[in-house]
Amino acid sequence: MLKKVTNLLTAVAILAASTFGFSAYAAPVVVKFSHVVAENTPKGQAALKFKEIAEKKLPGKVEVQVFPNSQLFGDGKEMEALLLNDVQIIAPSLSKFDRYTKKIQVFDLPFIFKDGNAALAFENSKEGKALLTSMKGKGLIGLDYWSNGMRHFSANKDFRLPKDIKGLKFRIQASDVYEEIMKSVGASGQKMAFAEVYQALESGVVDGQENSFSNTYSQKYHEVQKTILETNHGVLDYMVVVNEKWWDGLPADIRKGLSEAMHEATILNNQIAKQKNDDARAAIVTSGANPKHAKIVKLTDAELAEWKKAMEPVYKRFEADIGADLIKAAASHSNKK
Ligand code: LMR
Repeated sequence: MLKKVTNLLTAVAILAASTFGFSAYAAPVVVKFSHVVAENTPKGQAALKFKEIAEKKLPGKVEVQVFPNSQLFGDGKEMEALLLNDVQIIAPSLSKFDRYTKKIQVFDLPFIFKDGNAALAFENSKEGKALLTSMKGKGLIGLDYWSNGMRHFSANKDFRLPKDIKGLKFRIQASDVYEEIMKSVGASGQKMAFAEVYQALESGVVDGQENSFSNTYSQKYHEVQKTILETNHGVLDYMVVVNEKWWDGLPADIRKGLSEAMHEATILNNQIAKQKNDDARAAIVTSGANPKHAKIVKLTDAELAEWKKAMEPVYKRFEADIGADLIKAAASHSNKK
């Protein structure tokens, strides 16, 4: 009799575990991590590293599924999907958060960081860290920043100065700051999902774009553009974000293990980001031997000063939304402003 009752209780426990996802019999927590770039990029590699470490730290307790290349969700959809808990982790570029907080727009201000290290220093500062939790009320929590690299303009014609791109249309990320940046140089910005950019460049729907060397190379933009101007006008970094409710509802040991795995993935990301961009730049230079492929153009200090001057008014336009103090804090890492 006792054996029968024990068997019955065990069966009920297994059924409850599989239905509600708890107890020692529970299936692993499935963590879907969706992103839009290729695997051979800093973000692509770091996402895989996160999976490897998380599954090692939490054996049998989590299963991380990584979906690169907008396979599961592309721009526009991935944030919504995160809020609906259809995906649990995404890592959009910092340009893509302005619907959720205006403050993160600080990263898009033109020439605010002299290089990737200055951006990283700001991300690790008190003010930078505070931005990770600035979207809490909106259902998003930032776990970490991941670096990619500096951004450069490319177009389907030769250009060196702002006046050369007057009237051209550039694909931009979903960022109001970038819309204003393009206007400041007499061009226009068309917001477009990352997955659509290559085709839009190839077919001439847009004339140009701006991105890191790593993205430019892995997406083959250099094969459908004439010139890449090494402007270093902004940083392309990411915030790794999770659904707040899902995150807060995880068992404490799982949340801790995932946080630790994320920090290790962040370290790897930030170690490889510069090298990956340097390698991509070198590969673009090599491919420039093909007359149909883009050439990288370096600017003189005087030419660069023209770009900076043309874009300067963008700061005033966003100062009230972002906050003068935050702008000052971000700029302080490049010893200016
Ligand atoms: C872009 O849309 O150009 C980038 O944000 C893509 C990415 O995630 O690097």
